[in-house]
Amino acid sequence: LREIQYEKDLAGKKVLITAGPTQESIDPVRYITNHSTGKMGYALATVCMRRGADVTLVTGPTETKKPEFVNILTVTTAREMFEAVTAHAPEQDIIIKAAAVADYRPKYVSDEKVKKKDGALSIEMERTDDILQYLGEHKREDQYLCGFSMETEHMLENSRKKLKKKHLDMVVANNLKVEGAGFGGNTNVVTMITDDEEISLEKMTKEETAVHIVDRILKEQKKKQT
Ligand code: CTP
Ligand code: CA
Repeated sequence: LREIQYEKDLAGKKVLITAGPTQESIDPVRYITNHSTGKMGYALATVCMRRGADVTLVTGPTETKKPEFVNILTVTTAREMFEAVTAHAPEQDIIIKAAAVADYRPKYVSDEKVKKKDGALSIEMERTDDILQYLGEHKREDQYLCGFSMETEHMLENSRKKLKKKHLDMVVANNLKVEGAGFGGNTNVVTMITDDEEISLEKMTKEETAVHIVDRILKEQKKKQT
């Protein structure tokens, strides 16, 4: 990545990126989470920073090395991510939601460690806020909103539904069934979906994927403004 000489085509733009998983507590020692490492979001933050943007990165807990020269806000739960994102969203030119936000959290968090008993255990769960849905509903006309979509089946159809329902400008769809795509690794295989186009990228590093996504967003944003 270091060898690439970036054009500062994001100079003067404010970009908010979310990355990583959230953790939802069950009791003081246990939580529910997912396999997100934040790598895709961190790559996007790095690329946007190098292209001159003023980047805010809202990240869930991960071991991945944090990007430099980026304003980093660390959060743990979906609720905290919602608060951090909505506090900074209004002034952003571009928002990219790469985080894997928990859809549900335990309805009651036990103050004490839950002791095991004979038989099965059920944990009642409640829905978290859909941050991206909220952003779509409160979006400025000139703001560009890009979501991610994780699917194991009917990827294009389901991702298009998210594009519409959440009022997004673009969805970057990940097919978790394809080798070299999705959580953890350093590569990804994605399809960039807008109202009138579907562009599928080959398997490439997450940094290269980020460059393509940012290129596409800039092109689309220019198209919107004219
Ligand atoms: N998202 C969000 N807040 C949530 C859940 C998801 O902002 N509570 C965002 C993710 O950051 C991602 C997009 O919504 O950009 C799509 O996430 P995904 O999990 O693929 O889809 P969902 O809408 O949550 O639907 P489902 O998990 O049922 O496929
Ligand atoms: Ca989800």
